[in-house]
Amino acid sequence: LFAAVEATPNDPIFGLTDKFNRDTDPHKVNLGVGMYQDDDGRVPLLESVRIAEERLARAAKPATYPPMDGLPDYNADAQRVVFGADSEAVASGRVVTGQSLGGTGGLTLAADVYGSVSPNHKALVSTPTWANHIAIMRHAGYDVGKYAYYDGRTGVDIDGLLSDLSGAEPGTMVIMHECCHNPTGYDLTRSQWDAVTEAVRQRGLMLLIDMAYQGFSQGLDEDAETIRRLAAAGLTFMVSSSFSKNFSLYGERVGAVHFVCADADEAARVRTRVKTAAREDYSTPPLHGAQVVRTVLQDEQLRDTWTDEVSTMRERIKKMRTGLVDGLRAAGVTDMDFINDQAGMFSYSGLDKAQMEELRAVHHVYGTDAGRICVAALNSRNIDHVVAAIAAVRGQ
Ligand code: LMR
Repeated sequence: LFAAVEATPNDPIFGLTDKFNRDTDPHKVNLGVGMYQDDDGRVPLLESVRIAEERLARAAKPATYPPMDGLPDYNADAQRVVFGADSEAVASGRVVTGQSLGGTGGLTLAADVYGSVSPNHKALVSTPTWANHIAIMRHAGYDVGKYAYYDGRTGVDIDGLLSDLSGAEPGTMVIMHECCHNPTGYDLTRSQWDAVTEAVRQRGLMLLIDMAYQGFSQGLDEDAETIRRLAAAGLTFMVSSSFSKNFSLYGERVGAVHFVCADADEAARVRTRVKTAAREDYSTPPLHGAQVVRTVLQDEQLRDTWTDEVSTMRERIKKMRTGLVDGLRAAGVTDMDFINDQAGMFSYSGLDKAQMEELRAVHHVYGTDAGRICVAALNSRNIDHVVAAIAAVRGQ
């Protein structure tokens, strides 16, 4: 009965990890998947997480079913991290938050819930975007189009972006990255966000903000600024947020989806939809990761430790970013300084598919075919090899 099944192509990101794992070269470097690694090349177990895990283990409780939309106090904690402790939208009961299976699960729930009222089942994503945005939205039944974003070299094509938004059909869902744009690393400035907000409001579009990297650009609060301003401005929109990266809890699948509604009555109805969507898809979310995050966020000292750990990760990424640019300059590659203008885990290197293939085949350095490299996986031991490899494929 499976005879007619056709194989799907490799995932552009996790497919690379599979290839990397098969590579036996001792100098191999995986800059493909977005996972932060410390200077020893390890995905860190954060101290705040380690302490929380110990507390949970000591308290050893049975794993009963959580509510379909997740643990209520985890959801409240996630709301505080995203919207801030003094959010009027949260206080007035118009924000609905549900626990999700990482950021991907948040996007899926948002697509599902909005799908019940979307007038046209159309979604727009940035050019380029994280490949899974397109796949998730298609899978959820949306017709996926694109809006202009990357200007090809140095930043955001804001005119193209605004023009595409103003031509979009009312009700279209527009997926935007709050910070650390994946894959380019170029974010909108505050005034560009103001212009986008205006266009979204005028056309009656539904924003879905993807915030997978909170804390990796400027700081936990700073990186959520746009969401907080949109909420304060009275816009109705959705957010998918993730603790995968900033808690280094990738495999625990801890995320949240947030619906900022017009009022508490609308929010109460949306909550029933979130529950139904979860129930029909996976029933109830997993407990462990949410319990870890909740334990950290509810203890002032652990929360401070976590905030410091996020700063340490952020600063190390920045150091690697500037180190890469300096190294490339020293190696004779003088036209890649733009990497310093990008933010977050990734850099869009400008290298083409053939160069990325050569990086892998000859130098065992893995990045995506589109030229994205994860600067958060560079360290003081592999950076020279990566610099030499990029310089070589650039003909230096
Ligand atoms: C990435 O873009 O590498 C990460 O967000 C991991 C993923 O799920 O693709």
